[in-house]
Amino acid sequence: MSADATTRHHGPGHAHGSRGHQHTDIDWEAMADTLENAGDLRVPVLRATAARLRELLAPGHEVRRVLDVGSGPGVMACVLAEEFAGAEAVAVDGTPALLDRTLARARRLGLDGRVGVRHADLSEGLDEGPGTADLVWSSMAVHHLGDQQGALDTLAGVLRPGGVLAVAEAVLPTRFLPRDIGLGKPGLQPRLDALQEEWFALMRTELPGYVAASDDWPAMLTRAGLTGVTAFTTLLDIPAPLPAPARGYLRDFLTRLRESMSESLPAEDRRTLDTLLDPSSPQGIAHRSDAFLLAPTTVFAGVRPAA
Ligand SMILES: C[S@@+](CC[C@H](N)C(=O)[O-])C[C@H]1O[C@@H](n2cnc3c(N)ncnc32)[C@H](O)[C@@H]1O
Repeated sequence: MSADATTRHHGPGHAHGSRGHQHTDIDWEAMADTLENAGDLRVPVLRATAARLRELLAPGHEVRRVLDVGSGPGVMACVLAEEFAGAEAVAVDGTPALLDRTLARARRLGLDGRVGVRHADLSEGLDEGPGTADLVWSSMAVHHLGDQQGALDTLAGVLRPGGVLAVAEAVLPTRFLPRDIGLGKPGLQPRLDALQEEWFALMRTELPGYVAASDDWPAMLTRAGLTGVTAFTTLLDIPAPLPAPARGYLRDFLTRLRESMSESLPAEDRRTLDTLLDPSSPQGIAHRSDAFLLAPTTVFAGVRPAA
């Protein structure tokens, strides 16, 4: 979910250092459970998002093919297949294990035959691989590509006239605890946010083909040739006391934070994180009554004009 570690909304990821970037390389396969659990929590929000995307299409535009690019475990690919019942949905991702998850999920939901997958390293463009589409969705993925404008140009380029490109990014941070949790120094979350921002900036500069550019998503979509560019923000809002799946998501999120950032954290905040992650502590995420989940996602979208 949002700041993902990677992702902005998923928080920092597991570093594995395979390309020598020991702090910012992300092992997406290891994050499969976390990504799918996070997606499961978001399904109602994603359904509402899919309905809003339908409204952005040119009037009467028939949707025959949708792409979910950087699809992870394919949660939105399946939601889009449900929303656009006459369409084929194709999940595109660089992590084969996540594409396998997508197919398994589609089977469980009775969508096999309607959801396909395609393996692609997006930092190398899309070629003609996934073909044209009426709707292209890409959530929390474009910021993992060095050249964000180049990626948007490519995604806009596969749209049929009247089709929509929608890119979801976390503009606002996720919140899950009050300012004062009766443990450590108040204001833990803004301090964690600041560390994640530093991590994120470093992660971007280490990406292959990194191009420095401001995150002006509407301007980037306009430069990609789209019109009617717009944005809306959705909110995953799960109030306290949290049900078990949301507690599990928070536990995973904080575990990744502690693993990837504990060296940068002040000792007091490290102790606070340890207590929050202690399954036997009444002050831990597993038991506390004040944990909630407020996770905003901003969707930027534009339409490919008629030729
Ligand atoms: C933060 S996850 C987002 C997953 C899903 N879209 C969501 O919103 O939950 C980023 C996804 O982008 C994929 N990804 C990252 N860099 C990629 C690349 N260069 N080529 C293909 N996929 C990539 C990862 O495998 C991962 O599934």
